[in-house]
Amino acid sequence: MELANGDEESWSRDAIIYVNGVRRVLSDGLAHLTLLQYLRDIGLTGTKLGCGEGGCGACTVMVSRYDHCTNKSEHYAVNACLTPLYSVEGMHIITVEGIGSRQHGLHPVQKHLAQAHGSQCGFCTPGFVMSMYALLRSNRTLPTDEEIEETLSGNLCRCTGYRPILDAFRVFAKTNDAIYTASSSPSNFSNGFICPSSGQICDCGAGNFSCERTVEPISQNETDGTLYSEKELIFPPELRLRKLMPLKLSGSNGLQWFRPLKLEHVLRLKLQYPDAKLISGNTEVGIEVKFKNAPYSVLISVSGIPELSELKVTDKGLEIGSAVKLTDLQSFLKKMVRERDSHETSACMAFVEQLKWFAGRQIRNVASVGGNICTASPISDLNPLWIAAGAKFNVLDPKGKINTKNAKDFFLGYRKVDLSPSDILLSIFLPWTRPFEFVKEFKQAHRRDDDIALVNAGMRVYFTRVHPNWEVSEASIVFGGVAPVSFRALRTESLLKGKLWDEKLLEDALSSLKEEILLNDSAPGGMIEFRKSLTLSFFFKFFLWVSSLLNTSTENTDHQATRMLSAIRPFERPPSVGTQNYEVVSHGTSVGQPNVHLSAELQVSGEAEYADDIPMPPNGLHAAFILSTKPHARILSVDDSSARSFPGFAGIFLYNDIPGSNRIGPVVLDEELFASSAVTCVGQVIGVIVADTHENAKKAAQKVVVNYEELPAVLSICDAINSASFHPNTKRVLTKGDVDSSFKSCDHVLEGDVQIGGQEHFYLEPNSCLVWTVDGGNEVHLISSTQAPQKNQKYVASVLGLPLSKVVCKTKRLGGGFGGKETRSGFISAAAAVASYHLKKPIKLTLDRDVDMATTGQRHSFFGKYKVGFANTGRILSLDVEIYNNAGNSLDLSLAVLERAMFHSDNCYDIPHIRVSGQVCYTNFPSNTAFRGFGGPQGMLIAENWIEKIATELHKRPEEIREINLQGEGYVLHYGQQLHNCTLGHVWSQLKESCNFRKAYKAARDFNASNRWKKQGVALVPTKFGISFTTKFMNQAGALVQVYIDGSVLVTHGGVEMGQGLHTKVAQIAASAFNIPLSAVFISETSTDKVPNASPTAASASSDMYGAAVLDACDQIKLRMKPVTSRLGENASFKDVAMACYLERIDLSAHGFYITPDIGFDWEVGKGSPFSYYTYGAAFASVEIDTLTGDFLTRDADIIMDLGYSLNPAIDVGQVEGAFIQGLGWLTLEELKWGDGEHKWIKPGHLYTSGPGTYKIPTVNDIPLKFKVSLLQGFPNPKAIHSSKAVGEPPFFLASAVFLAIRDAIAAARAEEGYEEWFTLDNPATPERIRMACIDRFTKDLVDADYRPKLSV
Ligand SMILES: Cc1cc2nc3c(=O)[nH]c(=O)nc-3n(C[C@H](O)[C@H](O)[C@H](O)COP(=O)(O)OP(=O)(O)OC[C@H]3O[C@@H](n4cnc5c(N)ncnc54)[C@H](O)[C@@H]3O)c2cc1C
Ligand code: FES
Ligand code: FES
Repeated sequence: MELANGDEESWSRDAIIYVNGVRRVLSDGLAHLTLLQYLRDIGLTGTKLGCGEGGCGACTVMVSRYDHCTNKSEHYAVNACLTPLYSVEGMHIITVEGIGSRQHGLHPVQKHLAQAHGSQCGFCTPGFVMSMYALLRSNRTLPTDEEIEETLSGNLCRCTGYRPILDAFRVFAKTNDAIYTASSSPSNFSNGFICPSSGQICDCGAGNFSCERTVEPISQNETDGTLYSEKELIFPPELRLRKLMPLKLSGSNGLQWFRPLKLEHVLRLKLQYPDAKLISGNTEVGIEVKFKNAPYSVLISVSGIPELSELKVTDKGLEIGSAVKLTDLQSFLKKMVRERDSHETSACMAFVEQLKWFAGRQIRNVASVGGNICTASPISDLNPLWIAAGAKFNVLDPKGKINTKNAKDFFLGYRKVDLSPSDILLSIFLPWTRPFEFVKEFKQAHRRDDDIALVNAGMRVYFTRVHPNWEVSEASIVFGGVAPVSFRALRTESLLKGKLWDEKLLEDALSSLKEEILLNDSAPGGMIEFRKSLTLSFFFKFFLWVSSLLNTSTENTDHQATRMLSAIRPFERPPSVGTQNYEVVSHGTSVGQPNVHLSAELQVSGEAEYADDIPMPPNGLHAAFILSTKPHARILSVDDSSARSFPGFAGIFLYNDIPGSNRIGPVVLDEELFASSAVTCVGQVIGVIVADTHENAKKAAQKVVVNYEELPAVLSICDAINSASFHPNTKRVLTKGDVDSSFKSCDHVLEGDVQIGGQEHFYLEPNSCLVWTVDGGNEVHLISSTQAPQKNQKYVASVLGLPLSKVVCKTKRLGGGFGGKETRSGFISAAAAVASYHLKKPIKLTLDRDVDMATTGQRHSFFGKYKVGFANTGRILSLDVEIYNNAGNSLDLSLAVLERAMFHSDNCYDIPHIRVSGQVCYTNFPSNTAFRGFGGPQGMLIAENWIEKIATELHKRPEEIREINLQGEGYVLHYGQQLHNCTLGHVWSQLKESCNFRKAYKAARDFNASNRWKKQGVALVPTKFGISFTTKFMNQAGALVQVYIDGSVLVTHGGVEMGQGLHTKVAQIAASAFNIPLSAVFISETSTDKVPNASPTAASASSDMYGAAVLDACDQIKLRMKPVTSRLGENASFKDVAMACYLERIDLSAHGFYITPDIGFDWEVGKGSPFSYYTYGAAFASVEIDTLTGDFLTRDADIIMDLGYSLNPAIDVGQVEGAFIQGLGWLTLEELKWGDGEHKWIKPGHLYTSGPGTYKIPTVNDIPLKFKVSLLQGFPNPKAIHSSKAVGEPPFFLASAVFLAIRDAIAAARAEEGYEEWFTLDNPATPERIRMACIDRFTKDLVDADYRPKLSV
């Protein structure tokens, strides 16, 4: 113990925590560490780093602390990536490893998640497990379905589409009843039934579709520790008895950390260190430190100060301590709403509602009320409400004096509040509302769940009776997101006072708001027109809401028409329900069975190792990139002097340090590993810095000063077309028929254009590699998180000047890839290899999420122009399409992506005369690359655009146009390939029946007739996806099968397991081939020294190709075994046969090989058969939109896919669901914003949306309320192994049904205002695009009817 300078407080440096029941002493000097860094450093790598900014939930752990006032331990989930290590001092941390393991038994949460197919790549899985576990431990009763969905809103999964995760966890809900068991109908197959919860055969024995066994809810005992007392970790008695001490600890670079326990000590510390930063939940400060390099040297944690954590009820209102956590505030306010008179709690209710959409659960569990207020963010969700509700803030000065300040005067400017450096916010006073005083919250974000607002608001009115009317006597109208600070519309407020609440007031207020809210074109965040429109929409909603309350509370019989009230009716969002229908067609012991992913148990227990989890070798070092900050510039100089003197520095390597060739590229060598004389995009690699830690390497890299001479940059497809900036030799044309003359015989000819935004892969696991040299650099080995180990091998060999035979690349599993880790991971390994080669030390290079997003490329944005000719019947006659994709600064795979887009430009439609031309644009962005669908979805989306346009022109439903133009058996496509075994017609008609399209359409029409401000829309869309790499030589696959004398089989093949279940399917094929159980087959990893020259795992065809290669190897071994098998007889086990073969010196190892037959394409003539076969599917979607805000909800999705005889229907359903939700993200939520002509508020060439905070992939809240997936039954595929079909990419496009249903709903909204003609809806249909397309009285002054919000393409 020691005394701080001049302070009688005694500070301790003794810090302990318990981790998974094990006591751990935290040494001094670790204040710079987050809990996540610490956990991973001590080997608990089950907790993952997905983003480091609290936005993905991969790092979720449970914290338990003992509350000495209530004498109870409390449990809650936190994001370990934002939790300062010392902030959990005296607490018990439970990680995924602490609740169960394969060795000691899985926890029910883990077990159910694994069994229900809720883990694909597994990288998000520990986070989901811990969120659910914490919910169960913290709840006294079993949670409801709603609570489960709400709890998971802070956890992102990119693979599963969430449905299986929800189903897995629903067994823990107390309302595990009809919704789940009745609707998730088990599928039938010859031997029994598949229960959707387990994916296993159900033995209930029922002979029809209704499974009589309901899924038993898990009892609370099984999760709270009573039953599992031996396994479940209890709160450590030592921590319960131990007296908490004030702490004073340190960290690197002179950082000091204080944890005072008394208020006066906080004040004293503030006097002593005026610049000290108070921290509570650290959700704001943590971000500032990590992403903005905030230079805080003294941190004072205030979350342990009792006075700051109090919640008091007084006669006048509530006193809320500034350190009160948002979840506690939420429960407290809910209690007030339940217990107090309703007129008193209008403001409480508004806060409860607003908190529902405030961040994710893990953030709310730690984030404090005071932290939110003192950050003074212009988009704080709560500050507009504090102001509107008339709250007062109690501020404590250093002398202990309390000054009370009105919330309305507290916010002085951008992130500036009325606090002197040594003041503390003590508490907040929230007054009760009075009768006829109404408070309401508003928020519109990019995504409903866990997103920062674009615009939010808090509004209040108080009426007095001036008989017989009610007059406004007080009004507060406060907006967030329209100014640098929460903005009070003072003029509008005063205009309202003394007025009657009627239409006139509404009109006056709207006019006043239009004048009062000023946003100019360069305002940060952009979306000016949308944000302005939201302020009007919110006020209109407020007007209607108050009117409805006045009507009920004042016997006023003048009821608002229900049509109008749709503006204030929230979406109904019952828990989502999934249904899966498939038949099981077994082949041998395993093929066809819905087996669980082979790594599922490893993944749910956190034992599955990913590249960054590999323990660092003792002398290993970390590397970080030096990245370009200019889109196009000459490099004048590189000054590394400050970097060299940075702590832990070990080396810097630039282009002239490359021993081999600096030129890299997957198809043409048009990239430099390290930029030599010029940079051509922001985020281009100029070199690497190596240091002792990841943090030091990153910081040292930031110290490198590069001087540039800026050059003109091409920052959009449009710029590229205008300046003829194309990659060389990329012009392509496909033609069928006589396009030009055929237009003359058409009844109608229409033209249009389509803009399609890009998409970030957002695999949960960022790119990572570990490289080490052997024999002084004579050999190099690496482990990489890549879909293309062979490409990594090639890049490393080339930059080091080594033959391929001396470089080995291994990949065990990926935390998702989706195409993003195909060609864009090679340069990372190569850069690390250069450093490793020079330093002769192992080098780890793991990208931070923002670096990964800003450097590794995305799905291509596209621009399409079309001219389509058709008959009055809707029959398409002629089409001329031009398409361009945005390749970025190197060719990468962009030409192949363009070609696939061109092949898919017809989607599924019969077009007698068609010309598709395309070209690849060179722009100054990081090179774009493969992404699930590989250009196909973009090509098809352009097609659906002209289909919709034809329908609008002819006043017909688009579905009718689709149906009459559907391709069928024998149809010859525009590139010469003929359709065989075409099941499109079956898929289409079965789906129409399954979704009852007519009824759904009528229901939407009826709904729209009685709702003015909410609209529903429906759509039904087909898809056809060609299977094979379009580059012929890539359609080859190798495998190595080894049978051991104990009868176990080790399979290695060239494909990579990235969550898609490839290894599981391939193992099933081997198991069936040898007639052994699946458990006897093992696939360890992919390695370039086992199977050479493998193509990347891509193009959906891996199970076709590697399955066939493995089968070939198995057949060879079986042939060799045959004499022995015959001799030993049928009853001999595989093990006996294997041993006998060994004793007879028979080779039990074989290399298998497969090439896809009958494919090939000649671009010279534009004809051929690029695909082996096609996967068909169709989807129906029904949506509801809020026309005033652009918010939307997918009510229904019904999908049918033809997957032949599925190798594993459970895995295939998972692929369909996952692809659909990923597609839904691309089409509705995910918008990349680049610094380009459209976004002048972003620095040129920079990516603004570089993390989950700004880039929004779907959450559990975005999945359809009813989500049905069926696999077409009875159509074996003669072209692939065991009659199966490829599945990875084909369903992705089906999410366009959601996009088109949104379009349909918008059309209904526009029709209300008399706009019946065509309108363009660019992709993605974000709230901004939806709202601005729904032109109405609020937007007419802001935009024209054909307004298209800005989009980076
Ligand atoms: C993933 C994520 C999602 C988010 N979502 C939302 C959202 O939906 N809506 C929203 O409004 N915000 C959101 N935020 C922002 C943030 O979570 C909130 O502002 C939160 O309430 C901050 O509280 P904290 O306790 O973590 O603050 P801290 O980071 O601990 O502190 C924030 C600031 O407040 C000061 N401070 C804290 N307590 C006091 C005190 N008693 N007296 C004086 N100063 C004090 C600190 O010095 C610091 O400057 C999000 C943040 C993240 C990371
Ligand atoms: S890593 Fe912590 S939330 Fe993403
Ligand atoms: S399984 Fe969820 S991200 Fe892969």
